[in-house]
Formats: sequence, structure tokens, C-alpha cells
Amino acid sequence: MPGSLPFSCALITSGGGGIGKALASYLINTHKIKVLLAGRTESTLSASAREIGAAGYYVLDVGDTASIAPFVAQITAEHPELDCLINNADGNDSSTAAATINVSSVLGFVPFSIVNPIYNGTKAWLHKAWLHFWSMNLRTQLRATGVAVFEIAPPTVATDLHRERADPDYNNKNKNPGALSVCEFADGVGKRLVAGEDTIGGDMNMDVVERGYVFFPVKWETL
Ligand SMILES: NC(=O)c1ccc[n+]([C@@H]2O[C@H](COP(=O)([O-])OP(=O)(O)OC[C@H]3O[C@@H](n4cnc5c(N)ncnc54)[C@H](OP(=O)(O)O)[C@@H]3O)[C@@H](O)[C@H]2O)c1
Repeated sequence: MPGSLPFSCALITSGGGGIGKALASYLINTHKIKVLLAGRTESTLSASAREIGAAGYYVLDVGDTASIAPFVAQITAEHPELDCLINNADGNDSSTAAATINVSSVLGFVPFSIVNPIYNGTKAWLHKAWLHFWSMNLRTQLRATGVAVFEIAPPTVATDLHRERADPDYNNKNKNPGALSVCEFADGVGKRLVAGEDTIGGDMNMDVVERGYVFFPVKWETL
């Protein structure tokens, strides 16, 4: 479906694996979007770019804040056609592309207590909820500019995210039947992006995202 999304060239941070790679593959194969990957490990990026047909990759650690400005200067000079930033890594900054897509978490909406209170406390209220509120504010701030701001709030998706947990396979389908595969997740997100939804929970937890808005009588960034 080329042309059905409001951008044609996307940069995906943390694009070498997991959700980022799955979204990249979906955009390339379903929408013929030109995709550039960024991540920390060159061998992973190079193998993933080759496998999914990405147009290129950049070695970038988003936690190394000093490297962000030179990176932005480099990539915008090399790819002036870049018009979408997918902030998928666990650190985020804003952009002036035609579209910004922030990957937050369902834990930014509702404090599930399925993992542990410390994790939920940090992810839900400090980090992912911040990303949710930042996305709403960015959408308001950029409304007059034509830059669209999307937020993707994943449910549990089977990636290597839990590699340092006692049970690294916790988010795999055989351990957690509610988990989505990366392909199921990317397909579900894709349908909602095409439909023009700006806050996307993935097929299985949109109701949770909607319930998060119960705290506000309306989606107040649209006021
Ligand atoms: N999977 C889930 O169930 C789930 C649920 C809710 C939210 N999320 C969010 O979705 C996003 C992606 O998660 P994921 O599950 O795909 O994780 P993942 O499987 O751990 O993938 C992480 C990717 O990010 C790269 N990366 C890690 N740190 C980075 C950094 N500082 N700078 C640049 N790249 C970095 C890694 O490559 P290198 O190590 O080579 O850089 C790897 O390719 C995260 O923001 C996560 O919090 C995931």
C-alpha cells in the first residue's frame, strides 16, 4: 500500500532487533517506505539491514547524548528526504520530520502489577508515562506545523527485551500466551497507522490505552 502513510523515509532507533526491526520490515515490505536503522552494534545492524532490505544503518547509542547533534547533522545531510523519526530506543528526543512515532508502553497508561512494583513504578510513572505525556504535548505543539505525532504503546511483545531478567523468555508465547509475536504486533500497529490513529496500543490492548484516558474527560491535546 505505498502512499497510505504520511511519510516516505523513516529512521528507526533501536532498529537492529525486536520491535524496531519488525516495524522496519513491515514499513519496507508493506508500504515500500525507505527505512534507515540506528543502534549500537554494527554487526547486528548490518545483518538486519541486509535481511529486511533497509536502505542503510547508523551506529548510534541514544544514551550518548553528546553524539545526538552530530548524528542529526550527518543523517539529515545524507538523507534530506528523511521525513519520519521512530523513537523506539529507551531514550527519546524530538524531531522536525513530517512524522514522529514514539514507542512507549501500555505501562504508561495503566499500572499493571504483573511484573513487579519497582519495574511498574519506574516504567509506568517515571519513564513510559513521561513519554506518553511528552507525545501528547508534542502533538499539541506541532499541530500547526503539519508534523504528525504518533504514539505506539506496545503490550507484551516477544523480543529479547528481558535478556537480563531471571527468566529471559518471560515474554515468549510459550511462557506468556498473551504475548504477541513481533510480526503480529507490527501488522496490528500498521493497520491502525493506516487508519490514521495517533495513539496505538496494538491489537490486544487498545482498550487499556483507552481506559488510560478515563483520567481525562477528553483527549485533551485536541482541545
Ligand atoms: N517487548 C515488549 O514487550 C515491550 C513492551 C512495551 C514497550 N516496549 C518498548 O519497545 C522498545 C523496543 O523494545 P524491544 O522489545 O524491541 O527491545 P529489544 O528486543 O531489547 O531490542 C532492542 C534493540 O534496541 C537496541 N538498543 C538498545 N539500547 C540502545 C541504545 N541505547 N541506543 C540505540 N539502540 C539501542 C538493541 O541493539 P544494540 O544492543 O545493538 O544497540 C536492539 O536492537 C523499547 O523502548 C521498549 O521499552 C517493549
